[in-house]
Parts: sequence; C-alpha cells; structure tokens
Amino acid sequence: MSSSNPLRDAADRRLPRIAGPSGLVIFGVTGDLSRKKLMPAVYDLANRGLLPPGFSLIGFARRDWEDEDFAQVVHDAVKQHSRTPFREEVWQQLIQGMRFVQGNFDDDEAFEQLKATIQELDKAQGTGGNFAFYLSVPPKFFPQVVQQLKKHDLADAPQGAWRRAVIEKPFGHDLASARELNAIVHEVFAPDQVFRIDHYLGKETVQNILALRFANQMFEPIWNRSYVDHIQITMAEDIGIGGRAGYYDGIGAARDVIQNHLLQLMALTAMEEPASFDADALVAEKAKVLGAVRLPKDLGSSTVRGQYAAGWQGGEKAVGYLQEEGIDPKSKTDTYAAIKLEVDNRRWAGVPFYLRTGKRLGRRVTEIAVVFQRAPHSPFDHTATEELGHNAIVIRVQPDEGITVRFGSKVPGTSMEIRDVSMDFAYGESFTESSPEAYERLILDVLLGDANLFPRTEEVELSWNILDPIEEYWDSHGKPAQYPAGTWGPTEADEMLARDGRSWRRP
Ligand code: BG6
Repeated sequence: MSSSNPLRDAADRRLPRIAGPSGLVIFGVTGDLSRKKLMPAVYDLANRGLLPPGFSLIGFARRDWEDEDFAQVVHDAVKQHSRTPFREEVWQQLIQGMRFVQGNFDDDEAFEQLKATIQELDKAQGTGGNFAFYLSVPPKFFPQVVQQLKKHDLADAPQGAWRRAVIEKPFGHDLASARELNAIVHEVFAPDQVFRIDHYLGKETVQNILALRFANQMFEPIWNRSYVDHIQITMAEDIGIGGRAGYYDGIGAARDVIQNHLLQLMALTAMEEPASFDADALVAEKAKVLGAVRLPKDLGSSTVRGQYAAGWQGGEKAVGYLQEEGIDPKSKTDTYAAIKLEVDNRRWAGVPFYLRTGKRLGRRVTEIAVVFQRAPHSPFDHTATEELGHNAIVIRVQPDEGITVRFGSKVPGTSMEIRDVSMDFAYGESFTESSPEAYERLILDVLLGDANLFPRTEEVELSWNILDPIEEYWDSHGKPAQYPAGTWGPTEADEMLARDGRSWRRP
C-alpha cells in the first residue's frame, strides 16, 4: 500500500528484492547450461545476499552421485563461471541445502525420493514447501517430467506454499508442436505457475529498451513511420555450434534464436507503452505487435538462409558446418538467417524490420539499430544529404553494452562540411553497478513469482505463426547459401537489402 510520502514509496521500491524461503530443483543438472549458467547464477544471487539463508538446491540426474559429488560439481562450476568473487562463507552456507537425487525421468522411486528430499529440506532448511522445478532438459523429456511431477504430487503446492515450473526453450519446433507442449504443461501447471525462459529478456540492455523509450520524452515522438526509415536487429555470433550438434542440426538459426530472442527484441522495440510494467500489461502490448507482423509476399526475395563453410576466424582455421562432428554431411540446416518483416499498424506501416542472426560471423555482437530517414534537404553546399549516413539510434545489447546516437556534425575548418559522428552511452562509464547475468535476474524472478520477463503461451504461439511459413518455404526451396566462417554471412543477404536501396550495418 502506498504511504502519503511519495519519496518514501520510491525508496521502498528500490529496496533489494530478496527471495523468501525457497529451493530450486534442476532436472538435467549435468548439462552445459546448468554448469555454465544456472549453478553460477545461484551462487551469485547468494553472494549478493538475495537468497534466503536456508535456500536449497536439488540436482536430479542419472549419474551415480552422492550429495558430496554434486556439491563438488557445483563448486567447480561456480569457481569457473560465476560473476562475483568466490567467498568461502557464502559457499559454506549454500552447501547446507545441496542435495542430489539420482534417477531416470521414468523412475517412480526417484521421484518419491525427490519428494522425501523436499520434505527433509523443509524441516532442515526452512524452505516452507516453496520449490521451483527447472527443466533444463531436451524438449522431448518435458512431457515426462511434468507428468511425473503431477503423479508424485509435487506440482501442487502444500497449503500456503508455491510450486513453479521453469521451462527452457525451445518451446516446440513449430506452432503445432508448441501448442501440444503447452497443452501438456498446462494439464499439470496453472498458467501462473509456468515460467518460460527467454534469457534475452533477463539482459539489462534488453530491459533498458523500455527505459529508453518510456522513461524519456525525446525518443518516442520520432519512434514511428514519419521519421524511421527501417530497423535492423542483429544477433551475430563468432562461435560455431560447438558440442551442440544433436540439438542444433534440424533446428537451425531461425528456430534457435529468431523465433524467441529476436522477435522479443522486435516486440519491445515496436510495442506501444504498456499501462504498467506488470506481466499482463507487457504481454498484451508485445502480443499486439507480434500479431500485427506481416510477412512479405515474396519470401524468396525477403528471406535468406545460410550455412557456414570453412574459413578463418580470429586467425584460426574454422571447419564448415557440414564438417562439424555429429552433423549430417547433407544437412540443410541454416546457421544464418535474415528476414524482412513489417508491422501492420499505424505507427509502423511501411517500415521494414530486418532481422538477422548467424553463427561463425565476423564477431559477437547483438544490437538494435533504429535508422532514421535522411533530412529532407541540405542547405550546406559542401555536403549533400546523400553523402551522409542516416541518423541512427543503436541499442548495443552486447558485448559493449550501451547506446550510440549517430548524427552529422560540422567538420572543424573554414567550410561547412558535414561528417557523421556518434555520441555514446556506455554502461561501464555511467554506472558503478555491474550488470547481473540474465540467469541471475530470471532465477530470482522465478523465486519471487515475478512473471514480467517471461514470455507467455500467446507470445510463443504468435512467434511460431510468423516463422512457420518461412521454414516451410525454405524446406521446399533448395539449400542454404554458403558463407565462409568469419565473414558477415551470404552475399544473398546483402543483395536482399540492396534491392530495397539499403545495406546492413557492419557493427
Ligand atoms: C541461445 C541459443 O538461446 O542463445 C544459442 O540456443 C546461442 O545457440 C545463445 O549461442 C546466445 O546467447 P548469448 O546470451 O550469448 O547471446
């Protein structure tokens, strides 16, 4: 309830958000995501004092481990990957609530063991029956795990407590499978118990899109078709597929990241101001954008898919996708995808949104560039408007987090020559606080029951609705274009923009 003192209310809102009595169960705890992201995030939260003293972490997997073996694996993962310094006293506290349950997902005894472990922790650690189940497992196991949770009476919270399910992407591989999956999950968990992870929403710079647009007065008036020429959203990676052949082959770049991360970035960039920052209001506005997305009629000239061939990356030879271990040498999987979309509403009519992503590109960078129309004429004899670049606001999501504004400025000297310059905001220079990892933020939100940063069923389905026709088109039209590793993708992608009289930014 708000008091009569607005400054006090604001100060209260800035108090750290600390999770109450609770625990986390990780299925698939021996996987990469768990070791590189989840375990370190739990430690970092504990280290920042954001977890309750009795916080408990249960690992569930097939390995023949004792609690101590599991704790050792967490210890090594934390030492290697956590963001904040290792402190023995934090570790000693965390280890009190660490347990391991061994078993397969079809093993009833193991789930009974899990139930007993939760009850034991409720007594020993005061977790109060509040547990989140993190499904960090291949999607084919989702149905089995949720059904086992139901069967063993783990999905329904005891009186006064909560139970939540956290589901990693991919949520299906097309609209039909996503619907099927959602139906299975919702047979067991109510919508407000389900937290779907899109880790891009946990990134500081992504949340800052909303701050930039809606906490300021100067951007929103020009954030529309009257001033914006087009928008480019790029998520480029320099890495290949690493050890993920099993997951990636047959999925490809568009399903792996456009369906979720890039369409979420697009929705945040294009949406109207939400009535508040709560989950219902945010989802409603994002869903309106996703529902208004239109595909160009000619998918052949407005989409490009590519596959990396051998090349040079960072001075080293990189093998082509088809030579990667575990990849079908005839695979047609896309490791690069570029698509042009439009948003059919009054704000954005006629403004193309170009989305691209790829593995083994020139460097790792994610950015959103809002590119403005040129000034209508130039009164300066020495510089024609065409000689200048377009004004642009570039939200640098990573790695060099910040915002750049590009505009023309007079070159010092005796003539009125104009040249493009940029003005930068960099997180590192403006804030002393460092950014939490996306998974830190999202795990904390799950424990607090705060659903703002988690996509809902509706968004997931709308996003597949956009992607499905593109995937179908690609399936029936030849092979992906090849591009050498370490370059910026296939030439077809450059030609796609050139046809519109535009070009990709070289970030
Ligand atoms: C994941 C994709 O969702 O995001 C990976 O499955 C990708 O293929 C990763 O490498 C990139 O995440 P980030 O945070 O490093 O940009």
